[in-house]
Amino acid sequence: MLVLGIESSCDETGIALYDTEKGLIADTLYTQVELHAQYGGVVPELASRDHIRKLTPLILQTLEDAGISKDALDGIAYTSGPGLIGALLTGTSVARSLAYALDIPAVGVHHMEGHLLAPMLEEIQPEFPFICLLVSGGHTMIIRVDGIGQYKLLGETLDDAAGEAFDKTAKLLELGYPGGPNVSNLALKGESGRYIFPRPMIDRPGLDMSFSGLKTFTRNTWLKAVSEGDSSEQTKADICRAFELSVAETLTIKCKRALEQEGLNRIVVAGGVSANREIRAKLDQLMKKRRGETFYPRLEFCTDNGAMIAYAGAQRLLAG
Ligand code: KG4
Ligand code: ZN
Repeated sequence: MLVLGIESSCDETGIALYDTEKGLIADTLYTQVELHAQYGGVVPELASRDHIRKLTPLILQTLEDAGISKDALDGIAYTSGPGLIGALLTGTSVARSLAYALDIPAVGVHHMEGHLLAPMLEEIQPEFPFICLLVSGGHTMIIRVDGIGQYKLLGETLDDAAGEAFDKTAKLLELGYPGGPNVSNLALKGESGRYIFPRPMIDRPGLDMSFSGLKTFTRNTWLKAVSEGDSSEQTKADICRAFELSVAETLTIKCKRALEQEGLNRIVVAGGVSANREIRAKLDQLMKKRRGETFYPRLEFCTDNGAMIAYAGAQRLLAG
């Protein structure tokens, strides 16, 4: 079964072709980063308009590059939510119209299910059941996964998502957009131990998380440094280091708790923030100690892409 995947929930237009026998055949991504960078964040209306411009040419180009005619498609998968409503509407309209014209099924995919299943596109795939840490710009969730479509939410953030906290930290320190990778890169130059940030909610039972207090702590630390006449690059780097370490350790503590609670020793980490070096290092450390297994998507499939939507849609169509 050959499925066309369309992702347009935020600031990336992602198109992919997934074949349930041959695997991933094509994957094209157009990022709107430059368009939004001048505003310091995603401007929803501009995102929608840009998706409209890019969707059709990208679909045609992806099919042409793969040497596949649109008549060979068996189904179309598109991100139906969550995301920016206008941006979602563009992908949905194109996907459903094309499917109608070709007389093939169209299937809406939950964006976070796409992220969750992204590691399945790798050569070595996790076996079920496993714990999934889903960390993106809008969500932070710990999920028990017993199979495709069998998800149990164990815990989530009560306020800001981990990625959102990275982005707001970047904005505060004027590191530009997109924030996560910039904070992480600057953290590499930071001195660990100069600042110690709290690990939110680790003293409370359960698997819920909160990152809004950490954001405020970061803000207060920076404003205090500035008021003392220190707004140097080094201080910014030290703050990034302390912030990143706090997020990485907090997530790792919660994952350890989830594994213990569910009696599992296999973890999958996905979503944009799963590209983060420190989070991967801390989780690898934990899983090495536990002699467990860790799975991540390749770096380009951590952030938004069409391949994960094509894969998730193909599984749903296969299952009828
Ligand atoms: O999954 P994604 O592409 O979009 C959403 O579904 O939200 O995730 C984007 C988020 C942004 O908040 C971005 O700053 C963050 O992932 N991100 C990172 C890194 N790469 C992307 N955060 C920390 N470290 C990174 N290396
Ligand atoms: Zn995403």
